[in-house]
Amino acid sequence: MPSATPPLSVWARNISPSPTLAVDAKAKALMAAGEDVCSFAAGEPDFDTPQHIKDACAAALQSGKTKYVATGGIEELRKAVAESYQTAYGLRVAPGQVVVSPGGKFSCYLAIMATCSPGDEVIIPAPYWVSYPEMAKLAGAVPKFILATDRAGFKVTPEQLEAAVTERSRLVILNSPSNPTGAVYSRAELEALMAVAIRRNLYVMSDEIYENLIYDGLQPTCLATLGPEAERRTIVVSGFSKTYSMTGWRLGTLVAPAPIAKAVGELQSQMSSNATTFAQYGAVAALREREKTRAALDQMLTAFDRRRKLLHAGLNAIPGISCLLSEGAFYLFPNISSFGLPSLEFCDRLLDQGKVAAVPGSAFGAEGYLRLSYATSDAVIEKGLSRLANFCKSLKA
Ligand SMILES: Cc1ncc(COP(=O)(O)O)c(C=O)c1O
Repeated sequence: MPSATPPLSVWARNISPSPTLAVDAKAKALMAAGEDVCSFAAGEPDFDTPQHIKDACAAALQSGKTKYVATGGIEELRKAVAESYQTAYGLRVAPGQVVVSPGGKFSCYLAIMATCSPGDEVIIPAPYWVSYPEMAKLAGAVPKFILATDRAGFKVTPEQLEAAVTERSRLVILNSPSNPTGAVYSRAELEALMAVAIRRNLYVMSDEIYENLIYDGLQPTCLATLGPEAERRTIVVSGFSKTYSMTGWRLGTLVAPAPIAKAVGELQSQMSSNATTFAQYGAVAALREREKTRAALDQMLTAFDRRRKLLHAGLNAIPGISCLLSEGAFYLFPNISSFGLPSLEFCDRLLDQGKVAAVPGSAFGAEGYLRLSYATSDAVIEKGLSRLANFCKSLKA
């Protein structure tokens, strides 16, 4: 009889669990134990899902929309998603180019699985969203990072991209507005990056999940609109979590040229089948009941914009911290390198001593920074800032 079970797979042994979810879970556990923690760790809007979306889902559930449906999503939703690209960006999308998945995260994974084979390189600008490198590794691919610091506005240049490309490069991942920095690339900046991707024949996965959370009158750019060559190689990922405050619904989208969308649909058919059927009817309401959705989104944006400015001003008032004003999403990424501590240690001590939860920059491939989410109340922001200021003072003392 063998004395031990066999080892777990190389995939299980090599995966790093999500550090953002881990910090959030630790902060929530402390709060559940009665500790007064100011948490800036959340990766989700702190608003409820708009009522009309919940009503549409509840009606679908009541009327028996509880069975399997087409893997890529119900026809009404694929059509509504296709039309939303036409309305927002003037991009013509056929419903067959749309795959509805169980979350933007899964859309990203499917996009990588559909384009990368073992040994292929995936070029990932850092600071990056924590899941991209892990997903690349799960596909047997090799993540390759190009770093943009705050001095570069957290945006990589075409020259950096060009220099990173090798014979094995297959995919570049772009994410604007960005998690964790909130940076938004201009159309011209994206055109310059896309020119490299075209010249070097790369696929582009454009994660546009924060497309509607954008400030100062800026407009998001959909990468598939940068011309026919761009459209042929771009996989646009988005979803309902952030814009509509629907994180728990698990609904993502993917829009790609028909052959890629077909491959993605086939992968999904073996990995998850369809996204939750009745949830998809809620998503249809989010896209179709435009006025109600717009009103809810405007309310959310007004609050986020106010908090963004509040947090930004408060951070820059703390000696030793400098922070860019992000233009999108709901994160700020302040520079804490003057304290001379690794960001993980800074965050651990900040939580233990200062009762403030933040995610270390190292989790996003950028040492010397913190990620702070302002998807929390003004009161928590003010209290958290004052605690952070005291903590920083104690480090300098
Ligand atoms: C950049 C980015 N992409 C994708 C996702 C996935 O979102 P979801 O799976 O909730 O749709 C997130 C969520 O945090 C994100 O920040």
